[in-house]
Amino acid sequence: MIDITSFSILDKRGDRLLDDIDLNIDTDELTVICGRPGSGKTLLLKAIKGIVSEGLKHEGKIETEGRIGLIFQEPRKQLVRRNVKMEAAFDLENLCYERREIESKIHEFAKFLDAEYLLEKDIDEVSHGEMTKIALLSTMVTHPEIILFDEPLSTLDHTNRKMLLELIRRLKQNGTSIVIAEHDLRDIVGLSDRIILLRDGKISCDGRPKDLKKELHREGVKIPFSWELEVLGGEYGAGQD
Ligand SMILES: Nc1ncnc2c1ncn2[C@@H]1O[C@H](COP(=O)(O)OP(=O)(O)OP(=O)(O)O)[C@@H](O)[C@H]1O
Ligand SMILES: [Mg+2]
Repeated sequence: MIDITSFSILDKRGDRLLDDIDLNIDTDELTVICGRPGSGKTLLLKAIKGIVSEGLKHEGKIETEGRIGLIFQEPRKQLVRRNVKMEAAFDLENLCYERREIESKIHEFAKFLDAEYLLEKDIDEVSHGEMTKIALLSTMVTHPEIILFDEPLSTLDHTNRKMLLELIRRLKQNGTSIVIAEHDLRDIVGLSDRIILLRDGKISCDGRPKDLKKELHREGVKIPFSWELEVLGGEYGAGQD
């Protein structure tokens, strides 16, 4: 559960980067946050996780229930240890799990993510897509109740995208609240319950994906081809009147 009330983020000049956001997100829901670059998607996800960068001020309130995992847009920034397995163990160690349990959780998820081959590597040896997998691994091992993904699909190839979509489908089935920032809806739309469209730090639309086709297209969000045809058909039809 995420409860956001009159929340704003201001830069040092007083400009509102997020502007008066009111938003409730229930459990079991998969919400996608869309919007052009700079619309505030990352700022909003980080704020839900409780992170506001130095030099920025905030107003309003965000209340959450349950442990929150965030997969950063640039996963390198969230990895704090040198070795992959040590990184994956970090949160579990902080939660005081026993060594044997830590090992077994890491191997269980690494297997699912097809990332076992990465466990003995150093973080600096791995590719950007592999880094996303490691960020997923170290987040998933603690079973967060809320998971925030910041454009996770763009760094992955087709096979790994399919793996991540399957992971997201399972998480949703288990009742995890999921929020994903994405500018390409094509892979994720089938799993989405709700779309929030941000524009200049404000919520400009909030609704079911199929009710927002026109707005999403207008805002430059990549939508399924059939939707695009529908939107363009509607515009063409309107032009004929
Ligand atoms: N630490 C900061 N200091 C000042 N301005 C910032 C800071 N972080 C973000 N901004 C500004 O806030 C706005 C929203 O940024 P944000 O990163 O949330 O956009 P985004 O929607 O995630 O974009 P993208 O699709 O490119 O990831 C941008 O105009 C950005 O320049
Ligand atoms: Mg971003």
